[in-house]
Amino acid sequence: MKDFFRKRYYDGIKDTKLKRSLGLWDLVFIGVGGIIGAGIFVITGQAAAAYAGPGIILSFVLSAIAIGITALVYAEFSSAFPISGSAYSYTYATLGEVIAWLVAWNILLEYGVAAAAVATGWSGYLRTFLENNFGFTLPVALSGAFDPSKGTVIDLFAFLGMAGVFALLTIGIKESARVNFFIVLLKLAVLLVFIFIGLKYVKLENITSNFLPYGWQGVWSAASLIVFAYLGFDAVSTLAEETKDPQKTLPKGLILSLSISTVLYITVSFVLVGILPYYSYEGKPDSLAYAMYQVNEKWVADFISLGAVITITSVMIVMGLGFTRVLYSLARDRLFFKTFADIHPKFNTPYKASILGGVFLSVLAGFLPLKILAEMVNIGTLFAYFMVGVAAIVIKNRPDIRPIFKVPYPNLLLPLNLIFLMFIMAGLPFDTWMRFFIWTIIGILIYFFYGYKNSILGKS
Ligand code: ALA
Repeated sequence: MKDFFRKRYYDGIKDTKLKRSLGLWDLVFIGVGGIIGAGIFVITGQAAAAYAGPGIILSFVLSAIAIGITALVYAEFSSAFPISGSAYSYTYATLGEVIAWLVAWNILLEYGVAAAAVATGWSGYLRTFLENNFGFTLPVALSGAFDPSKGTVIDLFAFLGMAGVFALLTIGIKESARVNFFIVLLKLAVLLVFIFIGLKYVKLENITSNFLPYGWQGVWSAASLIVFAYLGFDAVSTLAEETKDPQKTLPKGLILSLSISTVLYITVSFVLVGILPYYSYEGKPDSLAYAMYQVNEKWVADFISLGAVITITSVMIVMGLGFTRVLYSLARDRLFFKTFADIHPKFNTPYKASILGGVFLSVLAGFLPLKILAEMVNIGTLFAYFMVGVAAIVIKNRPDIRPIFKVPYPNLLLPLNLIFLMFIMAGLPFDTWMRFFIWTIIGILIYFFYGYKNSILGKS
């Protein structure tokens, strides 16, 4: 069995049909594009108001430690198995097909639902922007997810936005990377402007006078929530087969993009709770812009609002990319219909997986209220990270797997990784856990009715 896995994987590295066109900075920009989004623009202020107070800075540090060690583990795996399935492929090669399927089931949820949830948030920003600046209002029926009591049928902008992103992804990876590049430049500019202008208005007493209004429990809950802000770094590893010299480039791309985002997050959260008292952000989803309005920096506030609308789209692009690459890998291993592993002769993209993802996620973004599903994104993703962490311990002593990059101090960091992830998962509400179990049971049923019989491994 071990030999089968090894052959399957090393063959995959050599024979990829995708086009290798991405270098280190493409990956870093894709990583930052996928990481920085609604988490910092929308959730941070609210998490400070409701859970952690100024202690949100510590919540960011706490999640950064947990996610940082996980990123090192991903870096090690990506240098051992540079395969587009990412966590799915790593667990496939080490823990077997059933666990790998469950991991894939959860990362499809991560990429799919996060993309759709972010699309819904983006659509909201866009509607407000068009209304405030051009007096343009969509008919009620087209302005929200299906809800007869409110008279809404479809969130048209979310639907179209998602469909547009997938059209781009179908045309080409290099084109997608180029669009993402400009979006990320703008995103960095927005956050740097916020930090530099905001620093002038920071009053330390806003932070020090009541640093932990909700105690450590609040810091912990907020850390579990804002872990959402870090998700997406792993999408970099799904591009393994489109990256030049992936065994060296991927680990650097993963670590660099997460480090850049972490420094920005911790600084932005410090400035945010320094400008105004934490409770001012209650019910203010556009908290960064709101803070700037309150200190009369109107042009900065407008720049941030517009910047948020434009730059959140990169999360949709990167999460969409991750979704199609994992689907493609599943189809290649016949855990999903074979046809979705086809590569377009001209565009060199897994176009059928992209089209299916486009249809499915556009409908999800357009018609479904995503609040509940969005909560599940964190737990599903943390589960996938956890299983990859277990796999890292399993391969530690296997002489046949030789990653170029290795997690430093593995005897300390690998167990610590699992402890931190469990700690963050334990901070999530009970309801989220129940939904996660139901989602897992559905995944297991699908595996036994389809994957088990049809997979390459099952047939071999
Ligand atoms: N990390 C992504 C965001 O914050 C999902 O939008």
